[in-house]
Order: sequence, then C-alpha cells, then structure tokens
Amino acid sequence: MNNIEFINGEKVPLEMHKVRVVQKLKLMPIEDRINAITIAGNNAHLLKNEDVFLDMLTDSGVNAMSDKQVAAMLEADDAYAGSASYYKLEEKIRKIFDMPYFLPAHQGRACEHLLSKVFIKQNDIVPMNYHFTTTKVHVELAGGKVEELITDEGLYVESEVAFKGDMDIIKLKQLVERGNIAFVRVEAGTNLIGGQPVSLRNMRGVSEICKKHGIKTVLDASLLSDNIYFNKIREEQCSNMSITEIILEISKCFDIIYFSARKLTSSRGGGMLFRNEEDYTKVRELIPVYEGFSTYGGISVREIESMAVGIDDLLDEDFVSQGPIFIAEITKLLKEVGVPVVTPAGGLGVHLNCEKFVPHIPKNQYPANSVMSALYIVSGIRGTERGTMSTDKNENGEEVFSKLELLRLALPRRVFTLSQIKYAVDRIIWLYKNSNLIGGLKFIEEPKVLRFFFGKLEPIGDWQQNLKQKFKQDFKNSL
Ligand code: F0G
Repeated sequence: MNNIEFINGEKVPLEMHKVRVVQKLKLMPIEDRINAITIAGNNAHLLKNEDVFLDMLTDSGVNAMSDKQVAAMLEADDAYAGSASYYKLEEKIRKIFDMPYFLPAHQGRACEHLLSKVFIKQNDIVPMNYHFTTTKVHVELAGGKVEELITDEGLYVESEVAFKGDMDIIKLKQLVERGNIAFVRVEAGTNLIGGQPVSLRNMRGVSEICKKHGIKTVLDASLLSDNIYFNKIREEQCSNMSITEIILEISKCFDIIYFSARKLTSSRGGGMLFRNEEDYTKVRELIPVYEGFSTYGGISVREIESMAVGIDDLLDEDFVSQGPIFIAEITKLLKEVGVPVVTPAGGLGVHLNCEKFVPHIPKNQYPANSVMSALYIVSGIRGTERGTMSTDKNENGEEVFSKLELLRLALPRRVFTLSQIKYAVDRIIWLYKNSNLIGGLKFIEEPKVLRFFFGKLEPIGDWQQNLKQKFKQDFKNSL
C-alpha cells in the first residue's frame, strides 16, 4: 500500500485490494447502544458482535482473508495423521524462517502454555521486552516470574523513538549475571505498549548476550508482519533488504519462534519453530496431550491450508504495509487536533492515551475502559482496554496500576474502508471534546485471573446518560 498524492496535494492511503465478499453492518441508535453496553457490564468482550458497528477489539482471527486463502481451504486433506495440508505448511514455514523443526498448536497461547511447561522451572526468571496478558499467566502457572526489560523510552507515550519495543540491553546483561533464566522472550512487535516495533539491531544484541551465557532466545512473532514493515522503513540497515531477507535475519537471532496464526497469517491456529532437535522433541511430547496429533495440532485442516497461503502474504509489501499505513493515517488525523495518542504510530491499532484523554478519572476507576465504554456509546465502535483493568490484582488483592492506560482500536488488516476510518476519527474527536462528561467505572463481578475477559463493571454516577443527552443535542437525528 502507498500514500498516493491527489491533485490538491492531499496524500491518501490507497487500498491495493478490492472487496469481493461483504458482511452487512448495523449501527444501532444510541439508546440501544447504552442498553447493550450495560448488559455487557461495560466489558467490550461481553458485547455481542451483532451490536457492534466497527469491531476494533482485536486483529486476532478477524483480518480479511485473501481469495487465494479461501480457495485453498477447499483443497484441505482431512486426516488425523500425515495430512498433505500439514506438510505443505511445514515446508513453507521452515523455509521462510530457515528453521528445521515445526510444531502446530491451536493458537498462540497454546504455544506459550507448552513452552512454559517444558522450559520453566520453579522460581525461574523469564526476561522479556514486555509481557502479553496470556504469556504472563502461563509463565506464572509454570512457577516462573516475568521481568520486563523495556527501555525507558518504550513507556514514553508520546515520543519520536522509532523502536520503542526494544529491550534494554544493559538491564539484560545485569539480569543474566544473576542466573536462573529459563529463556529470554522478545515480542516483535509488541502488543500492550501500543504495537511498538523492535529493531533488528536490538534483536541481534539480545541474541549475542544470550549466546554468550548459553541462554535460549524465544521470539513471539504474532505481530511480526507489522514489525517487518517498520524494520524496512525505519531501520537504515534494513532499507535495502527484501522482506524475505529481513525475516531470515530476524530468525537467526532466535532458538525458538512461536506465533498466533490468528494474527500472523490471517487464519486460525498457531505454531512453533525450533532450531534444536532436543527442544523440539521435548515440546512434541506434549502436543498429543494438549493439542492433537503433531500434523494438525488442534487446528482445522482447512485453516492449515489457509495458513500456508497466509505465509505468502507475509512476503508481500502491499500486505505488510496496509495495517501500519492505516494506523499512521488515523494517528495523524487525531494528533492534528490534539487528541492524545501513542506516537510514533505503531502496528496493530491506534492507541488512545487515556491518562490524558480523561485525566480526571483515577486509575482505580479504569480510565481506559471508561473511554472504551463511552466510545461505544457514541459510535458503536468496540475497542479494547489496555491498562489497569487488563492487569490483575496481586496476591494480596491490591490493584496493580498499569504503567500505561491505553484504549486500543485495532485495525484488522484489509477490513475497514477509509470512510469508516474517518467516521471513527470524527466520533473520537467529538468524544475528546466532551471528555469531561466521561466518568469512572467499578467492578460488580471480578474474576481473579484475566479479569478483563469476563469481569463486569458499572458506571459511577449517571455519566452515560449525560453523554447521551449531549450526543443527541449535537447530532440530532444522526446515528
Ligand atoms: N502474543 C501476542 C503478542 C499476542 O498479541 C497474542 C494475542 C498472543 C500472543 C496469544 O495468541 O490469541 O492466538 O492465543 N493477542 C490477541 C489480541 C488476543 O487481541 O491482542 P492467541
């Protein structure tokens, strides 16, 4: 995808694909939206998708598939063992990452489960640039502890730093001296800090230290497609490299690579690659116990076919650039009028900085989730909270305040049109101008683990009704 110049000088991101299958959308009146979010306990995960206009909850399992992916699904070779579809995928994926061993698993967190079970011992430390929600739970269930080594700049919400996902190499050096390291995990790109990328330079630095100390390196490649794009356009040494070469150079830095195929290949499923036979054999033993036989790993054979084709898209610059270019556009339009957003624009989605969006809401009233709820009410758009609500309480039942309070509006690849993006921008700007009307939330049902999935909250006071009244006043009969 490219920014094309129009006659008036305006630069417009032009889609390099056309829509051939459509799904009808519904934009309910604001009264029905308040009703729906109330029933959902102000939790985006509990909304029914049919009540959502633009679903920006995630890019997981909702990227648009290509015609070739859908066509490939009809060819699937259904077999419990030895499916031809699986061998097709295995061959492609081993080639593109140049790694000898591959195992499928039903999705990304299944890989995290098995890798944690096999490689983490009680009280081990797992250094990583930043945690992801499911990763942290799996590390802890296996008896380990996550140590986040993100650089200080990584947590500056507004910044000019090109690779805010980089790991702090000095902190890593100090930590590895202490021993007890199960493995070092790099998430490229990152998720919870605004889709920020990791430089190849940094991955090489991590790899060098780990090699010296005989420590395994693990790459979470779920968001690698966006990361490769940023390596190519923001990192001098990658600018003349092809995407294939960048992937190979990244791969060289790791002993194990795992991914969520729901993200990486716009299909369903997940997988792990291994450089070393012993690691592969240890994990393979658990595949039939938790996932299914090693030639399907809990994934439908149709999805395995579409994964194999989705790998081709990873090498297509029009594909890898589409998400980041749309995200850059929406970030630019919001920033121009002063809406607080994470900068530089990253992958995965646009991220509103809710500490600034609603500075009057304290962290223990979940400001980012309040903005999520308010935005749904005024637009029918569903985003996802990435802040204190997504961080569980500690073992003493105390709140652990998240370093960042973000509302992520994910942009699944090739799903939304530019007019839908403009609608989102318009409603976000209106909400920001009226943000004094947004109030806090409190839990009425609070699970102990990953509370953001099933927890229910209610508004503190009647701010949602006030917001509705102002909306009606300003937009009259418009939805
Ligand atoms: N790692 C990263 C970086 C992820 O973003 C995700 C999922 C996973 C692992 C787990 O993969 O969903 O296939 O089990 N992220 C989704 C999201 C859920 O909405 O950000 P999974």
